[in-house]
Amino acid sequence: MRQAGRYLPEYMAVRKKVDFLTLCKTPELATEVTLQPVDLIGIDAAIIFSDILVIPEAMGMHLEMYEGIGPVFPQPIRNESDAKNLNEIDPAVDLKYVLDAVSLTKKELNRRIPLIGFSGSPWTLMTYMVEGQGSKTFSKVKHLIYTNPKLAHNLLDKIAVAAAAYLCAKIEAGVDAVQIFDTWGGILSPDDFEEFSLQYIRKIISRVKQKNVPIIVFAKGVHFNLNKLAECGADVLGLDWTMNIGAVRKKFGDKVALQGNLDPTILYADHKKIRHDARKILESFGKGSGHIFNLGHGILPDVPPENLKALVNFVKEESAVYHTAETKPE
Ligand code: CP3
Repeated sequence: MRQAGRYLPEYMAVRKKVDFLTLCKTPELATEVTLQPVDLIGIDAAIIFSDILVIPEAMGMHLEMYEGIGPVFPQPIRNESDAKNLNEIDPAVDLKYVLDAVSLTKKELNRRIPLIGFSGSPWTLMTYMVEGQGSKTFSKVKHLIYTNPKLAHNLLDKIAVAAAAYLCAKIEAGVDAVQIFDTWGGILSPDDFEEFSLQYIRKIISRVKQKNVPIIVFAKGVHFNLNKLAECGADVLGLDWTMNIGAVRKKFGDKVALQGNLDPTILYADHKKIRHDARKILESFGKGSGHIFNLGHGILPDVPPENLKALVNFVKEESAVYHTAETKPE
């Protein structure tokens, strides 16, 4: 999940000097903010600082980032002629700045901890490309899939090809694992999730699998389709906080490792409550390997960093109980 960001004063100090997209596009600065939570919070894996929307930008869409609104595409894709302007990408050229940030971050990490690369899922990327910005109803992207499914599938396929090439290039540049974010998979009905999201996630996985690094898939709000996700070829399933990790392990724990799933807003609570809820998740998963402790979604900007640090310290201490050499999965 998001590790760097506005909750860190050290990130804000860098952001005072440059805007968000410049930060993403300057490998030295992207490396600096990637390393901040590693050094300040003590997490066990770093995630490269970037954004999922660099792919549509590389395909030719103009991207702007507004304080309080978030990312905006002023010329969204709504019909065939808009879609014609989208290019195939060559990550080595069009997203070179991310690959450079990966190489530099790997060098700076000096094998201390692994580095994770990521991409949005085709469906989640298409929601932003069609809506033009975040949405409550997703009416424009839903309008597209139900009135012009052919165009929607063409777009999704193009994005899947770009995302797969991008993830492969990131792996070649040095990332040790990749994560696919399907933030908006949960707004689709079960059948439509299969048709418009999952089949394209599978397409990415089938292309990235040959690179032999672990693949994590996180889809938010997709209880009804967890069984399909557990079989999509990913090595790890990321869970949001509305699921019971122990119950999910019982069902799918022999197929995939699980990542998650503390509610990120628990970080507003006092340390006692944070420890209590983190322990509940560790207990719920139980003994044995196959659990990456994480938040169930991104950190909010007004969370006190010391609360995150308290969480990380607690998990490092307490999780040892569940991972001693003698413990086998129950
Ligand atoms: O933690 C890290 O350093 C990794 C970097 C990371 C960012 N975005 C940085 C970012 C990752 C993994 C993402 C993924 C991302 N971006 C997703 C998928 C995961 C999720 O959160 O659901 C999505 C949907 C986006 C699109 C996006 N980017 C939105 C909706 C926003 C606005 C958020 C807001 O609160 O305003 C962004 C901006 C963004 N991406 C920020 C960061 C640190 C905040 C930028 C800033 O103002 O400095």
